[in-house]
Amino acid sequence: MAHQKKGGIVNTLYPPGPRPGAGPRIKNHYRRFWWCDCLILIIIVLVIVLPIIFVAIPHKAQHDIDASTLEVNSQEVTQPTENGIHLKIQSTAKSSSSFHPTLEAFTASFALEGKEPFLHANVPETKAEAETTITIDQDVTIANMDAFKEYNKVVIGNESFNVMFYGKTKVHQSGLKPISVDYTKKLTMKGLNKLAGMNITNLKILSGLDEKLPDGSNMIGSVLIDNPSVMTLDLGNVTMDLSIEGKAIGYALLPNMVLKPGFNNCSMQSTLDQISVFQLVTTKYKDAILPVDIKGNSSIANGKHLPYFEEAIKGNVIRVNLDAGPALSAIGLFNATESL
Ligand SMILES: *[C@@H]1O[C@H](CO)[C@@H](O)[C@H](O)[C@H]1NC(C)=O
Ligand SMILES: *[C@@H]1O[C@H](CO)[C@@H](O)[C@H](O)[C@H]1NC(C)=O
Ligand SMILES: *[C@@H]1O[C@H](CO)[C@@H](O)[C@H](O)[C@H]1NC(C)=O
Ligand SMILES: *[C@@H]1O[C@H](CO)[C@@H](O)[C@H](O)[C@H]1NC(C)=O
Ligand SMILES: *[C@@H]1O[C@H](CO)[C@@H](O)[C@H](O)[C@H]1NC(C)=O
Ligand SMILES: *[C@@H]1O[C@H](CO)[C@@H](O)[C@H](O)[C@H]1NC(C)=O
Repeated sequence: MAHQKKGGIVNTLYPPGPRPGAGPRIKNHYRRFWWCDCLILIIIVLVIVLPIIFVAIPHKAQHDIDASTLEVNSQEVTQPTENGIHLKIQSTAKSSSSFHPTLEAFTASFALEGKEPFLHANVPETKAEAETTITIDQDVTIANMDAFKEYNKVVIGNESFNVMFYGKTKVHQSGLKPISVDYTKKLTMKGLNKLAGMNITNLKILSGLDEKLPDGSNMIGSVLIDNPSVMTLDLGNVTMDLSIEGKAIGYALLPNMVLKPGFNNCSMQSTLDQISVFQLVTTKYKDAILPVDIKGNSSIANGKHLPYFEEAIKGNVIRVNLDAGPALSAIGLFNATESL
């Protein structure tokens, strides 16, 4: 048996047992290689834990974000300027996740599906609960005018539409490092459906110079519009072109037109070619019910054109069966009894 070497730092720290044998040799192994076993244990723990921390938890966080829903309860577009609006959106996020993390504030983009974003807005920090209210309330600059025009056409023309709402944020859950997630939601919204069902009532013809309004308007009335969406739209001073069978008969101004969700009663003042209208009533439309085509012309706020609304209303023509009878009778130009 070789004489054991007494030197060496390991032997000094862990001197070999008094007699050689299996037991002591194992003990010896542990004494010598304890750090190695620790290392293996640490590696095993890390191999199990790291994927949980770096793969499973982020995956779960992203999955929970994807599985959550977002619904817009109200959307207000006010204070329109040439290149911006004030945007207020109240929405409800719902999640069935058992985690209730905090989402960092982030910048969200709005876009029609497959199109460039038309604006970006700040989403405040949000604590995710089963049901969470998220409010956006700020002035925004239009990020892409063509995309915003396209969006407003869809808002006015479609019964319903989808809008993408997306951004990158971080999820904070106590005890964990912030986890990066993509927040992407497809919002299905009701549109204004071409202002279908619009009606014009309470017509009053202003005859004579003393009755006419300063801008020359010779007829006033109420425009009734049903807005089936959750959107409020401040369209500024809106003018519309009026025609019958393709022949222009005048135009209408809807001052400070703000469309709110539900029923709207907007005042209208119009400048009509009264002679043309009177001719139509005495020849073709003897019941004084005129099929008037109304086409948006301009949308102006504080003296500036709002091109993103103008393009949308220009593309929208509404046919209204205008009952001019009562207004004409009131000035003695029509007798409903005689016309029968
Ligand atoms: C809007 O409606 C038109 C047809 O009415 C349709 O072609 C278009 O895809 C709709 N747009 C959106 C964004 O829903
Ligand atoms: C429009 O209003 C008039 C009253 O001025 C009413 O007689 C008519 O039925 C209304 N038309 C529609 C489509 O609601
Ligand atoms: C619309 O408003 C006008 C004046 O503000 C009012 O005289 C008229 O009765 C209203 N019409 C409806 C249907 O509410
Ligand atoms: C309507 O638009 C035309 C140009 O397209 C313009 O010449 C006209 O003055 C507009 N009418 C009103 C009332 O704004
Ligand atoms: C609409 O026009 C009137 C009269 O010109 C003006 O007083 C008002 O400020 C205008 N509204 C907007 C939103 O610019
Ligand atoms: C309308 O015409 C009928 C029959 O000609 C007449 O009796 C009635 O007085 C007239 N009504 C008005 C308001 O002029």
